[in-house]
Amino acid sequence: MVNITINDQEYDIEEGKTILEAAQAMGLEIPTLCYHKALSPYGACRLCTVEIELNGRTMYQASCQYLVEEGMNIQTESERVVNGRKKMIELLLARAPEAEDILDLAYKYGVKDTRFLKEFDDVCILCGLCIRVCHDRMGFKAIEFINRGIERKVSLPFEDFHEVCRTCGSCSTYCPTGAKAVQLENLTHHTPRPILSEFDQGLATRPAVYTPFPQAVPKIPVIDRNNCIHFQTGECKICQDVCEPDAINYEQEDEIVEREVGAIVVTTGFDPFDPNRLPQYGYGKYPNVITSLEFERISSASGPTEGEIIFPGVTEIKSAAILHCIGSRDENTNRYCSRLCCMNALKAANLIRDKLPDSHVYEFYIDIRAAGKGYEEYYQKMLRSDIRIIRGKVAEITNIPDLPEDEGRLTVVAEDTLLGAILRVPVDLVILMVGIEPKKDARDLAHILHLPCTEEGFYNEKHPKLAPTETVIEGIHVAGACQFPKDVPDSVAQGESAAAAVLSKIARGEYITEPTKAEIVDDHCSGCRNCIGLCPYLAISFDEEEEIAKIDSALCQGCGVCVASCPSGAIIHRGYTDKQIFAEIEGVLER
Ligand code: FES
Repeated sequence: MVNITINDQEYDIEEGKTILEAAQAMGLEIPTLCYHKALSPYGACRLCTVEIELNGRTMYQASCQYLVEEGMNIQTESERVVNGRKKMIELLLARAPEAEDILDLAYKYGVKDTRFLKEFDDVCILCGLCIRVCHDRMGFKAIEFINRGIERKVSLPFEDFHEVCRTCGSCSTYCPTGAKAVQLENLTHHTPRPILSEFDQGLATRPAVYTPFPQAVPKIPVIDRNNCIHFQTGECKICQDVCEPDAINYEQEDEIVEREVGAIVVTTGFDPFDPNRLPQYGYGKYPNVITSLEFERISSASGPTEGEIIFPGVTEIKSAAILHCIGSRDENTNRYCSRLCCMNALKAANLIRDKLPDSHVYEFYIDIRAAGKGYEEYYQKMLRSDIRIIRGKVAEITNIPDLPEDEGRLTVVAEDTLLGAILRVPVDLVILMVGIEPKKDARDLAHILHLPCTEEGFYNEKHPKLAPTETVIEGIHVAGACQFPKDVPDSVAQGESAAAAVLSKIARGEYITEPTKAEIVDDHCSGCRNCIGLCPYLAISFDEEEEIAKIDSALCQGCGVCVASCPSGAIIHRGYTDKQIFAEIEGVLER
């Protein structure tokens, strides 16, 4: 440890640290542009210069490069330091007058203009951060400084395109001027392949280290191995260097964790209907035909457009059409109603009118299903607004080829079934209210858990009225849209109900089952094992010692399959033995 004084305050600092690191650790702010924790300091911008008094000498040094020494007295904001910084800012302003971060610094230090000649129409301050990250961390060496004096610039070696650049984008990511002085298209003929954010429906990009979505539980970032430079080349490791809690472990592997549990609540959710299956609606063909989930992200304040309803190629949205029941209530796709689309569509219409008050919004519906607390009232309110709610299923979406001034506009062709008229409505935006489908691998999980499914692949509950969250498999519950389409309030209510059902069993401390179970008559069992493969609940096992089948009555659901299939008649159904049934018949006949 060395004892130093910063701004008249004494600190004990670990030996080998730079003054900048020491100051930052103590929460003191020193401006920097060319410094990055993961790279060796270069001292290019000189913004971090501080006044150092040591052994009776005073000097001005870049704090990012100067190591702490015992007895140092450092001033980070003295008049001379601040005046020096202002001059550096003026020089940077002359070099990169448009760079956002330099303009911010100038504002902060009260520098209104530069006295130096603005000879450059550039945003690059020649700090070399991009070159260092490319060479030292990525190991690519795709860019270099070329020329001298005022001709100096960041460029390709020999100013010629080559194969070295992997378009990782680190050079522009680490550019400190906030203006991305390095443009990938000037460095490589490879086309950059942005990583699209799954949560933002591919409408925005994300880095290779990311948090899947803002409400993720646990809220921990993950590394996308397929796109992480370290996993591709073994280089980079910047995230490991900058992570203060030292939480990055590249050796970590996916683990299969086994837990013994008494109950399972299946809440695997749904897949949205893929509108590419209905080509008449032009999804994927016209950029302004989007799905309800894409609209959800676009209209969200935390979404890629920060809530602004804008699209590439569409200058202004003057009108929008919202199409209900896409992929629902249709013999060719899904016959069932997806339940939540009507209210979602009305909400979307309201949002568009709210954000674009001069726009016209058209809703095309088959039937409005507004069953839920306050839903009908909301629908009535929408009916009283100037949103056009038209009863009719849209036949197709086309562009308007003959009207060049309407480029980008689309025509919605539909029949108004109340008026009996064919409508052609020109719009700038079409939102497809896509339906809900079971998850693609829902049947695989059903197979593992022995859960019965509906024809479509939704999990079946034990009883729709009396046991809506239970399944025929004791201890397995379902909640949410994996059981059938549900909106958020219903999914939450069912989830809580399932959790309460599980907790009530745990709290009771004992397990009560139905008495009507199958039972093996040991003396009659021949040990043929027929019943083992037939039991859908895996309740039968084979006792190797006794060489007979055994039934676990906690798992047995009393379905009777084993009873009917036993060739030796060795399995009886408690409460339904032949003797009991004959006695019942006799009793009935006596009456
Ligand atoms: Fe130290 Fe730029 S941060 S010289």
